[in-house]
Amino acid sequence: MSRKVLLVGDGAVGSTFANDLLQHTNVDELVITDVVKKRPIGDSMDLEDIIPFAGECNIHAGEYSDAKDADVVVITAGVPRKPGETRLDLVNKNVKILKSIIQPVVDSGFDGVFVVSANPVDILTTLTQKLSGFPKNKVIGTGTSLDSARLQVELARKLNVPVAEVNSMVLGEHGDTSFENFDESVVAKKALKDYDAITADVLNDIEADIRQKGGKIIENKGATFYGIAMMLTQIVSAVLDNRAIVLPLSAPINGEYGIKHDLYLGTPTAIDGTGISHVIEAKLSDSEIKKMLNSADKMQEVLAGISL
Ligand code: 2OP
Repeated sequence: MSRKVLLVGDGAVGSTFANDLLQHTNVDELVITDVVKKRPIGDSMDLEDIIPFAGECNIHAGEYSDAKDADVVVITAGVPRKPGETRLDLVNKNVKILKSIIQPVVDSGFDGVFVVSANPVDILTTLTQKLSGFPKNKVIGTGTSLDSARLQVELARKLNVPVAEVNSMVLGEHGDTSFENFDESVVAKKALKDYDAITADVLNDIEADIRQKGGKIIENKGATFYGIAMMLTQIVSAVLDNRAIVLPLSAPINGEYGIKHDLYLGTPTAIDGTGISHVIEAKLSDSEIKKMLNSADKMQEVLAGISL
């Protein structure tokens, strides 16, 4: 069976993801589409030059109709944040862009897995499922996987341990209502809260650092793309390779944490070739459950204001 990906959106995130994916796993066909028609043409030509080292792939510009026999459709298309903007500031513009994508992709006969990174990602992932009518397990959002990667690096540096020994996650909205599962976090087999260096103030500072890091990168270099592209690559290669992994992703909530809303939100999620195989309800303290419910309520408030 050929392994085909349609990438919708060839900006900094999409282009970086395409380069990462081709070096990370085998892809038989990568089709790239963007509202700026010349970009995918140039990017496909540029990406072809890595084939001698990255492996064979039929890379070309295309259209939404190319989704018909694709395994995965990746949606990075959307207006990126400007300095000082929140991800939710993008909702009206990016919902409009999403609507223009989903119907033609569904009309093509696509029956693979949607993977969404465009912001606000929890809102757009929820709407991708609602607009497409796809089974909920076949729509995945990057969620708080990027925030969690940022958290793992910061804790590893602060405690001078390898990143692989940091078990801590960011959950909830990929945005201003996100929170960390510090009460359950373990670093190098020791409870995070048992480290002398870890005080309540230090944890508050870390939470602020992670929440603001995307904005700080944008202030300094104009956009963020390496981190989010790597998250997309982890997800898409796991689907293509039918390899089971667990990441904190934007996943369909069905009563977990006592959430009553029908939406996608950042929670540990098992994925494989079928898409989402299992939504995991993380063990959280009472105060963390409250933060998760607050995040869900905020997302529901935004969703209630959107007419499809
Ligand atoms: C970030 O935090 C793109 O929202 C993403 O960098």
